[in-house]
This record gives sequence, structure tokens and C-alpha cells, in this order.
Amino acid sequence: MINVIFTTSTGNTEHVVGVLRKYCDEKGISITTQRAEEAQPEDLLKGDVLILACGTWNTGGSEGQLHIRMDALLNGRAKDIDLNGKQVGLIALGDERYYFTGRATEHLIQFVMNHNGKMCGSPLLIMNDPSGQEGKVIKWSEKLFHVLQPQI
Ligand SMILES: Cc1cc2nc3c(=O)[nH]c(=O)nc-3n(C[C@H](O)[C@H](O)[C@H](O)COP(=O)(O)O)c2cc1C
Repeated sequence: MINVIFTTSTGNTEHVVGVLRKYCDEKGISITTQRAEEAQPEDLLKGDVLILACGTWNTGGSEGQLHIRMDALLNGRAKDIDLNGKQVGLIALGDERYYFTGRATEHLIQFVMNHNGKMCGSPLLIMNDPSGQEGKVIKWSEKLFHVLQPQI
């Protein structure tokens, strides 16, 4: 089972997660999604694979940070979690208009590394409006599940 924990303000990350979800449903891959703001540390350990998804925001007043609600989960409530080798896939969003473009990627990678997780495939980075980029999301999903089979 794939467990996606995500958050969104404008709906962009939700759109990308929706594309992934549809792909999984069509392939018969079991997937659950949960909002970061509703997640507790132990939720990060659920399922065979964890996928973290969020945009890059100006959390704390400086740009290039995790979305505030993902930051509150990963660097707040779950700051002491041990992922114990869990496989984690990452989805980050951003916009080219900002100087620290797409930096959520680095913060998510750091979280996985610092908490004993195992990166699963390369992170998916979606710049600007995700509408029209569904093909990129599907290609990434295909690659990810190729790497994961037969675990899921
Ligand atoms: C106030 C604000 C700050 C942002 N800061 C950044 C940033 O530093 N770097 C970046 O690449 N994108 C930045 N973005 C763009 C968002 O990451 C992008 O629009 C994303 O698709 C939003 O997804 P979400 O609404 O699902 O969270 C910012 C957007 C806003 C509104």
C-alpha cells in the first residue's frame, strides 16, 4: 500500500496527488492519501511506501521553505521519528518566479536522510502550474512503481 501525505494551499499539490491516485486506481495499486495537517508522526510509518508531497513556500518569512503545514509535521511533530529504513518517494512543487526555486525538494530529501529513511527513485519536481503536466506525473509514477515492484 502506498501512503501519501501531502498538503496544499492553492490546490496545485492536490492536483498532482490526484493524478497519482488515478494512475494507481487504474493499475490496481492500493493508495491512501492524508493531509499533513491531520497526520501524526506514526502516520509516516504506515503502508509499504510513503510519499511526501508539498509546494515550496515562504514559511517563517523566508522563501524556499517547505509548505508551513508540512514543515509543522516534519520539523515539528515528527522531528524525532525514526523511519527505520522506510522507502520514501518525494513530490515537490515550486514556481520559477521565486529565487529559491523548488527548494522544498531539498528539505524533503534532508528529512528522509536525517530520519533513517530510504529514498525511492528521484524526487518529482513540478514547476509552475501543474495543469498540463499530468504526463510528467504519470511517467514518474511508472518509474517509481517499476523500482518498487514486487513490494507493493
Ligand atoms: C507566498 C508564496 C511563496 C512561495 N514561495 C516559493 C518559493 O520560495 N520557491 C518556489 O519555487 N515557489 C514558491 N511558491 C510557489 C508555490 O510553491 C507553487 O505555487 C505551488 O504550486 C503551490 O502549491 P500548493 O498550493 O499545492 O501548496 C510560493 C507561492 C506563494 C503564494
